[in-house]
Amino acid sequence: MQVFRSALLRFAEDGQALYDEDGLLAVAPDAQGRQRVVAAGPWQALAAQWTGQGAVTHWPGRILAPGFVDLHVHFPQTDVIGSPADGLLPWLENYTFPHESRFCAPEYADDVAAFFVDELLRNGVTTALAFATSHPASVNALFGEAQRRCLRLVTGKVLQDRHSPDGVRDQTEQSLLDTEALIQRWHGVDRLGYAITPRFAPTSTPEQLRGAGELAARYGDVWIQSHVAENLDEIRWARELFPRSRSYLAVYDDFGLMRERAVYAHCIHFDDADRALMRERKTAAAVSPTSNLFLGSGFFDYAGADRAGFRYGLASDVGGGTSFSPFHTMLAAYYVAREGQTKTGLSLSPAQLWWQHTAGAAQAMGLAGVVGNLQPGCEADFLVLNPQATPLLARKTQQAQSLDELLFALIVLGDDRVIEQTVISQAKYAPSA
Ligand code: GUN
Ligand code: ZN
Repeated sequence: MQVFRSALLRFAEDGQALYDEDGLLAVAPDAQGRQRVVAAGPWQALAAQWTGQGAVTHWPGRILAPGFVDLHVHFPQTDVIGSPADGLLPWLENYTFPHESRFCAPEYADDVAAFFVDELLRNGVTTALAFATSHPASVNALFGEAQRRCLRLVTGKVLQDRHSPDGVRDQTEQSLLDTEALIQRWHGVDRLGYAITPRFAPTSTPEQLRGAGELAARYGDVWIQSHVAENLDEIRWARELFPRSRSYLAVYDDFGLMRERAVYAHCIHFDDADRALMRERKTAAAVSPTSNLFLGSGFFDYAGADRAGFRYGLASDVGGGTSFSPFHTMLAAYYVAREGQTKTGLSLSPAQLWWQHTAGAAQAMGLAGVVGNLQPGCEADFLVLNPQATPLLARKTQQAQSLDELLFALIVLGDDRVIEQTVISQAKYAPSA
């Protein structure tokens, strides 16, 4: 067992932030050798019970916090960050598709996967739901690297059998065979999970979406991920291609692609019937504010989502998104919520923003109580944060009079420099087969 003493941030079941200025975190390996939290709370209350059995690591002036969960990120778009375009569709055509075509080469995919996983960990992201490309080699590259680094990672081969250029377009039947083979190879291995991944409705034929829905029914505990209602031109296109569906979102429902463990990126231009459908199907939205601001897609409607009561969490959406840093994403989410506030009076507190990128995002993935928190039973993925990482941060956090002020200072001024250590739950180094 290992015991840590430091300030400690975690979340109650209702999403409330819990903070101990002098906290204790005790972790111990389970039967699989995975470190789990066995105790978390005030040092005063817990030290007598938990400090007799091993050395105590003391981190004065630091904060232990749950590893961040990135609910939607594209590993092959690591080098696409910062490619400007008029909007989503020209961005895909001019930058993204040509770049993703390079991932048919396994060595190239391996190289980017190693950089990508480094970048996640450097920024404190310990769980990610990621897109690969349409090439199975890209999926193997990312799973292999995540397995070596003991990361909790869910990804899948992109399905896109039409309206896509040579080099990324796949073939309907083969794409579904490849998907099933990848599920069987990777899903549930170590900390890895598979996501059935239609890119978005416009680039899949009805046959491909039907096949994806059949796989989703057959493999009930795999994830589903796609994009929806991000951009007005995209929505128009989807409505033309699927005129019989009630809405763009309903296309996915019509093919059996809305259920628990389904996560749709963006969900910006929804009506109330779409929101109700999200809730009914227990489907989650990945909110990607840096991407939405960069591509000029629009603003996620927090008030609408809360009114309907569907799940959502924060995501970088790199490379439409502009940063791997959860601090940057939380700050952009704050700006977006402020935009909505003028209409509804709703804004987001720093604790809510933080929850949306940790325990809330984990809940959206169906992993509540597993990752994204530091309550007993959780896998012990945690961060050692340095609130004095820069001169301005040191000055500002020292003056904080409340948890809100402390968390806001970190969100507004923080970046990868705040992440002093990223500690991953697996006790043992697990080389890939
Ligand atoms: N819609 C379809 N593909 C993509 C993508 O790669 N990024 C974003 N932001 N939206 C998409
Ligand atoms: Zn995306």
